[in-house]
Amino acid sequence: MKNKRILITGALGQLGLALIRALSKQENTYVLATDINIPKDKLSVDFEHVNALNKNRLESLITKYEINCIYHFAAILSANGENNPFMSWDVNVNSFQVVVSLAIKHKIQRLFWPSSIAVYGRDKNPINAPQQVDMNPLTIYGVSKLASEKLIMYYHYKYNIDIRSLRLPGVLSSDLVGGGTTDYAIEMVQAAKNRIPYTCFLAPQTELPMVYIDDVIMAMQQLMEADFSTHQRTHSYNIMGFRLTPRKLENQLKKMGFPVVVNYNIDYRQQIAESWPQTIDDQLAKKDWGWTPKFDLKRSVKRMLS
Ligand SMILES: NC(=O)c1ccc[n+]([C@@H]2O[C@H](COP(=O)([O-])OP(=O)(O)OC[C@H]3O[C@@H](n4cnc5c(N)ncnc54)[C@H](O)[C@@H]3O)[C@@H](O)[C@H]2O)c1
Repeated sequence: MKNKRILITGALGQLGLALIRALSKQENTYVLATDINIPKDKLSVDFEHVNALNKNRLESLITKYEINCIYHFAAILSANGENNPFMSWDVNVNSFQVVVSLAIKHKIQRLFWPSSIAVYGRDKNPINAPQQVDMNPLTIYGVSKLASEKLIMYYHYKYNIDIRSLRLPGVLSSDLVGGGTTDYAIEMVQAAKNRIPYTCFLAPQTELPMVYIDDVIMAMQQLMEADFSTHQRTHSYNIMGFRLTPRKLENQLKKMGFPVVVNYNIDYRQQIAESWPQTIDDQLAKKDWGWTPKFDLKRSVKRMLS
């Protein structure tokens, strides 16, 4: 796409802030960040305060700023979702419906929406979970993500709308986060950096797939630019960087000279983590549009500490 005019919903979260930083460096790209919260620091792009469920207001922004591309990030994440399932469904699915209906009406050229490994359920393939398999998610977050994955396919066939999607594992970055099940990794690195003890809410051996934020941003941009005119595509591509347990991270930090003290106090998030796969198969993303992660655990932690 040339002359991109991008609107981001949920732009003040982990993915949104990183995407803003990346897009700000691109030429011929206008970015409008939106969120239900107000930015703590001044952003490098325009900002509008908006609830992603407010269709009229979103529509007026799409018209006013001549938007032709949307990244829809507004969501309630896995752990927060379990505290309020009805609100989680409302925000996650109904805001998706609002954004897709506006994208169809305003002929938005491309829409990006992130899914999650939460779509998988405990009963199937915990190791190297295939791209496509029966899925029985055990969280409202996973249910809402799976429903939206199905809607992507449906709207693609019905309206020929170009929605692109990654099925993301836990994302590591230096931004403060909250409300997800993989947040422990970011919290532990921050505790190590600040030389304070950390109490981890997952058990030491709980293995989950992870990816570093720079690889996610690269993947989003590659996927958004990919040419699918000559071959079939999948509607939400698995990607992962490396596998991680709290103990492995603890050991990595110690190896890097941070004598972090980690206590374990397991809570309800353990059950969520155990319902997700330990690793996922991302061969299709490699084959279809060249997904190649650049960050392993060591490099990710090094970047988070710097
Ligand atoms: N970060 C991860 O590890 C991860 C993994 C898999 C998928 N995802 C998906 O990526 C997307 C972004 O995740 P994130 O980590 O940046 O989340 P985040 O929680 O850091 O940010 C979400 C943002 O959405 C905003 N928001 C919430 N409700 C809103 C509403 N009604 N209207 C407008 N804004 C609203 C919040 O204020 C927040 O700034 C989400 O769809 C999430 O499910 C994230």
